[in-house]
Amino acid sequence: MPDKPLDTTTPLNGRIDTDNLELAWAEAPWDSKLFGAPVLQIQTMALHGSEARTDIGPFVDALQRSGACLASCRLSHDRLNESFLLEDIGFRFIEMAYQPELALSAEAPHPATLEVHAATEADLPAILDIAGSAFGNERFHMDPRLSSKLGDIRYQNWVRSSLAHPSQRLHAISDGGRIVAFFITEEQADGTCYWHLTAVAPAAQGQGYGRRSWETMIAHARQRGSQRIQTCIVARNHRVLNLYARLGFHFPPPLTTFHWVRPR
Ligand SMILES: CC(C)(COP(=O)(O)OP(=O)(O)OC[C@H]1O[C@@H](n2cnc3c(N)ncnc32)[C@H](O)[C@@H]1OP(=O)(O)O)[C@@H](O)C(=O)NCCC(=O)NCCS
Repeated sequence: MPDKPLDTTTPLNGRIDTDNLELAWAEAPWDSKLFGAPVLQIQTMALHGSEARTDIGPFVDALQRSGACLASCRLSHDRLNESFLLEDIGFRFIEMAYQPELALSAEAPHPATLEVHAATEADLPAILDIAGSAFGNERFHMDPRLSSKLGDIRYQNWVRSSLAHPSQRLHAISDGGRIVAFFITEEQADGTCYWHLTAVAPAAQGQGYGRRSWETMIAHARQRGSQRIQTCIVARNHRVLNLYARLGFHFPPPLTTFHWVRPR
């Protein structure tokens, strides 16, 4: 039995805090809107004892009571006990993710050879085209139980909402007036420039625009005074993995992602 009271007032948000298990979850409203049913995210999970299987009951109950169609959890790669418990309650492994990081020193070894500007409404059609066709390795595209089309729409929605976002910025990268890539970035209080979403137009791939766009955006972050760049990529995206390695990014230990999908 849990020794501390459980806060499960609404099944969309909740917390379990017992001697065996700490678990907190919340709704991802943007994904609920996309899927037409609640989507939950486990925000923290830590096992401390062997009775966690019993203590996770309120979360399993919340999955049912909320009508959730999808739940996700991201763990440090070495949290195997937590991953076993997730698998016990129906979660499946989806991906391993890296969070490459680059410290921006005073020297500038990355040349800016493309133009970059803050995107406006006029740039949206070209950027939405890229966002709706460039991605294929991410969890919404790879989980065979989810519609890949919804994955495309999700990234297009993100591009649209970034235009009015209080801290995220949408950048268009172009060559001779043609948009070849876009980045959604966020400058954080600790000096990190976080790259949320990045892609080269499919028709422009394999011609050096990836390397040139990334170098241009590194130079842009340095020029704006950021001290480091951080991002998140999935391990199966070997093309971008090679690109980050080539540009001198460091790779901290990876994370693992799990999905629970309501059985049809
Ligand atoms: C990954 C991506 C950015 C590469 O862009 P690109 O324009 O095709 O890349 P470039 O031609 O400039 O090549 C740059 C580097 O990427 C790596 N790369 C590109 N294609 C590769 C391939 N088929 N296999 C292995 N590495 C590859 C290499 O390191 C290459 O440099 P090198 O050839 O000098 O070694 C592009 O494919 C893309 O936008 N993909 C979809 C969206 C995405 O994955 N975004 C990033 C994660 S959110």
